[in-house]
Parts: sequence; C-alpha cells; structure tokens
Amino acid sequence: MKLILLALGFSFLGVISNVSALRSRTKRELAPGLHTLGIRDAGGSYCQQRDSCCPGRDDACTVPYLDTICYCDLFCNRTVSDCCPDFWGFCLGISPPENVGTVCIKHGQNYPNGATYQENCNRCTCTPDGNWRCEQNPCLINTRVIDAVNQGSYGWKAGNYSQFWGMTLEDGIQYRLGTTKPPPSVMNMNELHVNMNSDVLPTFFNAADKWPGMIHEPLDQGNCAGSWAFSTAAVASDRLSIQSMGHMTPALSPQNLLSCDTKNQHGCRGGRVDGAWWYLRRRGIVTEDCYPFVGQNINGPHAPCMMHSRSMGRGKRQATNSCPNPYASSNEIYQSTPAYRLASSEKEIMKEIFENGPVQAIMEVHEDFFVYKSGIYRHTPVMAGESERYRRHGTHSVRVIGYVKGVIF
Ligand SMILES: *[C@@H]1O[C@H](CO)[C@@H](O)[C@H](O)[C@H]1NC(C)=O
Ligand SMILES: *[C@@H]1O[C@H](CO)[C@@H](O)[C@H](O)[C@H]1NC(C)=O
Repeated sequence: MKLILLALGFSFLGVISNVSALRSRTKRELAPGLHTLGIRDAGGSYCQQRDSCCPGRDDACTVPYLDTICYCDLFCNRTVSDCCPDFWGFCLGISPPENVGTVCIKHGQNYPNGATYQENCNRCTCTPDGNWRCEQNPCLINTRVIDAVNQGSYGWKAGNYSQFWGMTLEDGIQYRLGTTKPPPSVMNMNELHVNMNSDVLPTFFNAADKWPGMIHEPLDQGNCAGSWAFSTAAVASDRLSIQSMGHMTPALSPQNLLSCDTKNQHGCRGGRVDGAWWYLRRRGIVTEDCYPFVGQNINGPHAPCMMHSRSMGRGKRQATNSCPNPYASSNEIYQSTPAYRLASSEKEIMKEIFENGPVQAIMEVHEDFFVYKSGIYRHTPVMAGESERYRRHGTHSVRVIGYVKGVIF
C-alpha cells in the first residue's frame, strides 16, 4: 500500500486520503497530532537537520522530537498534523498553519495548546489560537461578593472559606443546604405562643453558658445536602440533655435519619424537617457514636438503613440491630416529644431559647450566605445587577442556640 502511495505522489493526495480512510487505521493515524498537543518547540530545526522531505506518506520519514517523533512526509500535513515544526517552512516553503507553534502564556511561562489550569471553580484551557478559554460558572466563593459586602455597610462581614473554594454556586445550592421548602402542612402548624410574662430577658444569651455540657458541638455536613437531618438531630440532642437535666446527653445521629427516614425524604439530597421530627418521635434514632456520619456519594445509591427499631409498648421502642459502629457502647433508641412551631416573633423565640433551649429555624439563603463570616446576616443586593445564574437561593435549616440584643444566632 505504501509503495502505491509513493508512486501516486503529490497531486493525488486527495484521493490518497480517501483510500487510506478505507483501510483499518494505523497507530499513526489514531495518534493525536502534535498540533493538538501543542508544538512546544516552534522555532526548532528538524526536517532541516534531517536534510530531506518525503513525498506522500512515509512512516519512516521522522525526526526525534522532544519525547516523541515528528514527520517530514507530506502525509503529515493533515488536519490533525504531526509535522515537524519546520516542515512547512523547510519542505513546502510556506508559513505554517495559523495555530502551529502558538502557545498560551501564564505568569511568563509558555503552555501548549490543551494545557489547563483551575481558576477557583472554573477550568481554563489553552486554545489553538493561543488564548486561555475559561469556563464561566458562578463560583460559590466569589471575590466580588466578598469585596462588595465588606465595602458596604450591611451589618455583616464576608470571608473566604477554603473548603468552598473551587465549588460552583450551583454545587453549593445543591450539596451544602438540603432542606425542602416547608410545605403548607408545616406553615399551617399551629403556633405555640410563649407566655410572655414580665421577666426581662438578658440582652445576650448563649445556651451553652446556661446548660454547660448539654449543647452539642455542631457536626460538619460536608457535601451532604442533609441540613434537615443535621439541624433536627442537633436540636433534639440538646433538648433531650436539657430536659433530662444532664442525665442523658446523647449526640443523636443525623446518619440514622439520612439513611432510615426515607419516606418522602431524600437523604443527602434534601428533606423535610417535619418528616424528621415525625421519625424522631415515632421511630426514634440512636447516637452519632452508634451510627456515625458516612455521608453519601451524591450521585450514587442511598447508604442503606442499618438501624431498625420495634415497639416495646407504651410508645417506647428498642433497636433490633447492633450499632453500625462495632465499638459503640449502646444502641439505645431515643425518641422525642412532638415538635411545635413558634410564632415568628423575635421576643417569643428569644424567650423560648432562654427557657427551653435551642430551636430549629428554616431559612432562605442566597448566594451571599456562603461567604458569611460574622455579624447579622441579611441577604444583600450586591449581585442584584447580575444574571439569574449569579442570584441563586435555597432552603437551609439550622439550630439556633442564642441571641444578642434581639438578634438570634
Ligand atoms: C498543508 O496544509 C495546509 C493547512 O491545512 C494547507 O493550507 C496546504 O494547502 C497543505 N499543503 C499541501 C501541499 O497539501
Ligand atoms: C480563598 O481560599 C483559597 C483556598 O485556601 C485560596 O486559594 C484563595 O486564593 C482564597 N481566595 C481569596 C479571594 O482570598
């Protein structure tokens, strides 16, 4: 075949390439051309050094080129070329195709076509025209948001969270929150009014000061959009400790809820707090020590439920499995009393926290929430002029453990 090609010579190149397309393709044809890898030595002398060019196709017409080889036969002049950098100039006497030898520059360094680097949540690629092309995703940590918030007087300060760096805003909304917008059944729950007698509330209150050892450390939900389970388990843990006056201080297991409270719930893809409270009351859950947080492969299958309970009469329940953690000391099931809804009155919420302990709050959070550092968070208009992609919001739920001067935290 090669001999025939050689005999046909230059003028039939078009026909030749059609013919060769019909054959099974060789390694050379399958290999990416040097163009696409970026010619890193555009100024070098190769065909010239070899002192000959080859007509048609000649797989032996090569010169060592860096850690590979380049060609000086006419066949190399295909769309995806593996010609030596000086092939066009030396063999054809023309200037090389536009994109040959162009490189992208960053910090004074040359990078070949196809090179990439990561700029926060966006990947930038060196294109054949010698420019970097970057993805244009809105990032979860947006320097413009941080600066704008800190330069304005919004009552709170913004900062950088390295664990959020590199994530897109979309990822943050999808994987870092995880509470379903409360359905009408929750919004219509009867409000329980707190008896506002004439007691004066302190201007500053932190539940951890009043109930030492009973307010649990927060757990990190990682990239699990399961705030519905985390905030419920946290509030229930604190309330159980307070109500038992410290006789029991279980840190309850969010994973137990994430994996087992699956009816209309979506584990690390979000869930409802009313469902979580229902489960805590009717089925009960074990401690974090017994059923530790494992998270979930976001797009993978649910982590299967590893803990079940059965009724022991009078509403009490007992675990039917041993703990997923083989070293845990107890698989005791903890249940809660029914949850109730507070009125949306700051004073009543303050009084409730002061008298009975932490409460759960459902909040609408916006793109600027992810850089919240200190102060009183309020959604700011710093992204108001941006397209919809930059102005995202989602529903989150948190445990509230105190307040200062009429502001809950
Ligand atoms: C070589 O390739 C270039 C760029 O595709 C093309 O313009 C030129 O005509 C080709 N030369 C020959 C001799 O085929
Ligand atoms: C934020 O933190 C990341 C990771 O620690 C760092 O690479 C980045 O430069 C920081 N960005 C700003 C704007 O401070």
